[in-house]
This record gives sequence, C-alpha cells and structure tokens, in this order.
Amino acid sequence: MASKSISSAAIILLHAACGAAVPLNQAATGTVAAAAPPATFTPNPNVGPGRGNNYYTDSAHFRLYGASGTQASASLNMLEAAYDCYINTMGWRSSGLSYNSANDDGPFYKVNVYSVGSLGGSAGVMHNDAASGLAWLEVLPDYLANPWITVHEWGHGITYAERYWVDQGRTGAWWETIANWVADTYKTSTFCASARSAHGQSATATEINLRKIIGDSYQVLVDGSVNTGNYYEAWPFLSYITANPDGYAGLGKTAVRDMIRKYNRGSNETPLHSLDRIATSTTAQAIVARYWARMAYVDIGHPTAQQVFLQQRNSLNYANLDAQGTTGTYKVKRARQPRYMGANIIPLKISGAVTVTAKVTANKAFTATLAVRNTSSGATRYVDLANGTGSTAVSANEEASLVIVNTPSSLILFDPFSLTSDVQAGLDYTVTLTGATA
Ligand SMILES: *[C@@H]1O[C@H](CO)[C@@H](O)[C@H](O)[C@H]1NC(C)=O
Ligand SMILES: *[C@@H]1O[C@H](CO)[C@@H](O)[C@H](O)[C@H]1NC(C)=O
Repeated sequence: MASKSISSAAIILLHAACGAAVPLNQAATGTVAAAAPPATFTPNPNVGPGRGNNYYTDSAHFRLYGASGTQASASLNMLEAAYDCYINTMGWRSSGLSYNSANDDGPFYKVNVYSVGSLGGSAGVMHNDAASGLAWLEVLPDYLANPWITVHEWGHGITYAERYWVDQGRTGAWWETIANWVADTYKTSTFCASARSAHGQSATATEINLRKIIGDSYQVLVDGSVNTGNYYEAWPFLSYITANPDGYAGLGKTAVRDMIRKYNRGSNETPLHSLDRIATSTTAQAIVARYWARMAYVDIGHPTAQQVFLQQRNSLNYANLDAQGTTGTYKVKRARQPRYMGANIIPLKISGAVTVTAKVTANKAFTATLAVRNTSSGATRYVDLANGTGSTAVSANEEASLVIVNTPSSLILFDPFSLTSDVQAGLDYTVTLTGATA
C-alpha cells in the first residue's frame, strides 16, 4: 500500500473547475424535519461514466460498476458498513444527498463506484458531479474491498456532502486528514463496531504512522507540503477529539462533523478556527496542547494505536534537544523547533522515586505539560506547567515525558498547502530539569 498513493481528491480545484454555481451561503438555516430516507436509494447512472454500462452490482446505498460476485459483495458490504457507521452512528449527512440541495429531505441517490484498470499512480479517486451534486469514486480492482483506499475515497464523498468546506482553500489539506480518519475509524474504532458486525466485517489493523507523527511532531499540526508534509498522517488528532478522553464540552462523536457544520461559511477560515468555536469550554490551543501531551504515550482513546506505540517507541526519533554547559539545561535543536501547533515530546530519564521539576523559557507563547504514565497499570496523568514551570513526584513505577507545544495566543489564517513564515517560525526554547535528564 505504501507504494500506492491515495488520491488527493483535489476537491477544491475540481469543484472550481466544474464551475458549479451554488453559493455556499445558500443553505437554509431554518430547520425542517427531514423525511426518513428510503431503505434503498435510487440509482443515478448519469453520475460518472455509467450511462449504458449494464455491468454493475447494487447495494442499498451504492452501485459498483465493473464488478460482480464475491469481488463486488466484499466491496459493497464494506461500504455499507462504513455508511452505517458514518451516517447512522456518527451522524454525517448522507452521501445520497446532493451538495446542491439545501435540505436533507432527498431525493437520495446511490453513490456510483467504478472499478477501473488504471488511475495514473493512484489506487482510488473521488470525483464530484457538479450537475447532480453527488460524489462518485474510481478504484483499482485490487483495492475495491480495501478500506484504506475505498472508504478513504468515500470519506471525501461525505466531506463533500457536508458542503461547507467545499471551495474553502484553507481546509484543503484537511480533506486528506479527514478521509484517513474516516478509513481508520471504520477499520479500528468501537464507534463502528456494531456497523461492522451488522455487515459481516471485522476490525482490522490501524494505519497509524508514528514514525511520521511522533518523529516529525515539530511540524505544523496539519502540513500539506509535497513530500515532507503530514496531512495524510495527522488524523490521530481527529481520533483524539472524537474519543474526547478529556471530556471537553463540544467535542466527542460528532466533533469532526461539527467542525464542518459550524464552519463560518464562505470565510476561508482554518479548521482550527472552527474547532475553537465548537469547543465551548476551552480553546483550540489547549486542545492541541493536550493532544500532544497525550501523544507522549499515545493515550488518545485509540487502544490499538497505543499498542503500536508500545511496540515501536524505542525506534522513534525523540532527538529534540542539545545539552548545554550547565547541568540539567537543554536547548531545542534548531531544525526541531516546534512550528505552529507542532510539538516536541521529550521522554525523561528518571531513576527511582523522585520529584521532577521542569522550567521552560521560550521566545514566544507555548504550552508545556508533564505526561506521567504508570508502567504497571498504564494509567496516565498530566501536569500543566504554568508559565512553563512546575513539578511532580514520580514514583518508581511511573515514567514521564515533557511535552512542549507551539501555541500562539491567536489562531493563524494559513493554507497548509503553502505554509507561510508565520506558521513555519519555530519555538526557540530552553529547558532546565531537576530530578531527571533528557
Ligand atoms: C501503578 O499501578 C499499580 C498497579 O495498578 C498500582 O499498584 C500502583 O499504586 C500505581 N502507582 C501509582 C503511583 O499510582
Ligand atoms: C504567569 O505569568 C504571568 C505574567 O508574568 C503572571 O501574571 C501569572 O500570574 C503567572 N501565572 C502563574 C500561575 O504563575
């Protein structure tokens, strides 16, 4: 799979190129009780190249062109399980509804999926049909029943159906983050367990890439840079706000959906601006800072991701600091300075029961936390370092990490596909430790 690039659905450009003339602010704000969707949606062979092609297999919410038998049923059962989870359990707007429609009453159409021989290096691609306002997918035959490809592409489809991020360029990179989060949640999460089992599907291994997200945690939280970015890998942040282990008001099962629904329409703000709005009792900065603190031990409400961490932790790159002349004092390596909403995770070396004190000073705003984990029980606790300074008693059966996050007091408007100097400016800091070494 690693050799197969997944589509970047380039929905922003694609949609603009199609010239659909639907003002984003047109959606009705009044609420009308939506009619119950039919059990089986209507086929729409005009979406994609389907017209006249009689080689297809139907399920309730999808039509798969170019496949039959067990190949088709394997793909369709997977897609129906994903539909059941994301539409019925997670509450997303149905992929059967038109982007062009301001309501949720229907009509409801099947999503057309085309099995195609070649996609120019991609394993799957999502398209949008401007006239009908419906998403359609193309997937290589070998990947039709592979959720990391096909559920990912459908994840673009439900992002499109939610409407308000379309044509908002600063959300563009996050479309890939969301699509991978949809695919991983489908594969691994208890949120999707009953939907999977209702359609004969099993949980499968997480695709978390800790070498990237921990090894390069200093990068902008969602960075769309070609070759060096993390926008395909950054989805555990979305798993965290969905599992919401810190119980923040406004986050939880529908947090990602609500980042789209509560987006300031037509504003081209960033997803973090929307996150800041849906979190009614805390800030986006505090949420990102606690996410990174929890990533010290991948304690984000994703149990299989934490298992992967416990297997891989010794091979991850934590070389963030250089020791200074004074004992216990360290300075961040220039190349590893945390950028906008990025972090350094610093595992501490501690001998026996001791009080660990950390004092962090920096050139600008940051959030520092001591993450402490009981190595016997796995229980974690988090100690906020007010103004960068604090301490905690660490027992013999506990381990600890210092986590430092670049959290400016105001959110920045930027496009992750073309990072500007304000988000790329690193947090230059010095830390002094007692009771531990870095
Ligand atoms: C760590 O967990 C073990 C096993 O549950 C428990 O006995 C011990 O008291 C815990 N240590 C701390 C410091 O909480
Ligand atoms: C942090 O620093 C600010 C400004 O120096 C000060 O007003 C505030 O009281 C400090 N907070 C704590 C908890 O020390």
